[in-house]
Amino acid sequence: MRDDTDFHGQAVLITGGASGIGWAAARAFAQRGARVAIADLTEEAATSRASELGPTHRGVGGDVSDEAAVDRMIHATVEAFGRLDVLINCAGLPDTFTPTIEQTGAHWQRLIDVHLTGTFLMAKRAAVEMMRHHHGVILNISSIAGTHALPRRNAYTAAKHGVIGLTKALACDWAQDGIRVNAVAPGYILTPFIEGLIAQGKLDPKVIRRRTPLGELLPPEEVANAMIFLASPLARTVTGTVVTVDGGYTAFGSPNDAAIIED
Ligand SMILES: NC(=O)c1ccc[n+]([C@@H]2O[C@H](COP(=O)([O-])OP(=O)(O)OC[C@H]3O[C@@H](n4cnc5c(N)ncnc54)[C@H](O)[C@@H]3O)[C@@H](O)[C@H]2O)c1
Repeated sequence: MRDDTDFHGQAVLITGGASGIGWAAARAFAQRGARVAIADLTEEAATSRASELGPTHRGVGGDVSDEAAVDRMIHATVEAFGRLDVLINCAGLPDTFTPTIEQTGAHWQRLIDVHLTGTFLMAKRAAVEMMRHHHGVILNISSIAGTHALPRRNAYTAAKHGVIGLTKALACDWAQDGIRVNAVAPGYILTPFIEGLIAQGKLDPKVIRRRTPLGELLPPEEVANAMIFLASPLARTVTGTVVTVDGGYTAFGSPNDAAIIED
């Protein structure tokens, strides 16, 4: 019987692939036979992670908000693997929680550049390769901040809302080219990104667990599982949508705690 989650013969490029959710995705696709290109800010981090996966994988360095670097990363992937089947836009950085009236334009711009412009640039360049084979899947990582407000995290909230709008537009634009485009909206996922915010006292894991119906911060592998489904033929008719992986966080609206947790 055919396994629809077997990715042998496919090439997958993951931005932000050296850490957190991107790294979990890299492992999940590699375990299922894909050749994976890990893209991250530094060539060193990217190639080091790729070598952990094995010799058939590649690391490419570059900033997703720099159009020339985007071109180099996609070109290097296609040169190494001969094709590009799946792009996962996972590169990102946290917001600072600075009071709104103290936020600078430069701060705003960097968050928008990496999350939103980076997603646009990567998708646009990847689609050129995917159109050659009339086949491709693009997964853009949004957030619960893509559908709900996170006060003070203005640029992050705006960028993640933008990622969902962009996802819908590209899905409709490229449906006839054989390219599906979806967004994944994670809740609170235990990665270096969130661990850093917890260490700085900006997030309280106990409060998050109480606010989350499943009562936990989720492991990044759970997000990777959703990505495997969305990239597979099981999701052949799924495009232009958002899959939320948040343990019920955004479904919950009561004023009381969602979960009873042990201290
Ligand atoms: N962890 C969470 O709870 C959570 C929740 C919702 C959404 N997200 C989103 O998921 C994505 C991954 O987050 P994570 O938690 O795995 O974070 P992480 O910090 O563990 O990994 C992010 C990776 O992106 C890379 N990166 C940052 N800026 C880049 C740039 N300009 N170009 C290329 N690479 C760049 C970093 O070097 C890092 O390796 C981000 O877009 C984040 O906003 C995370």
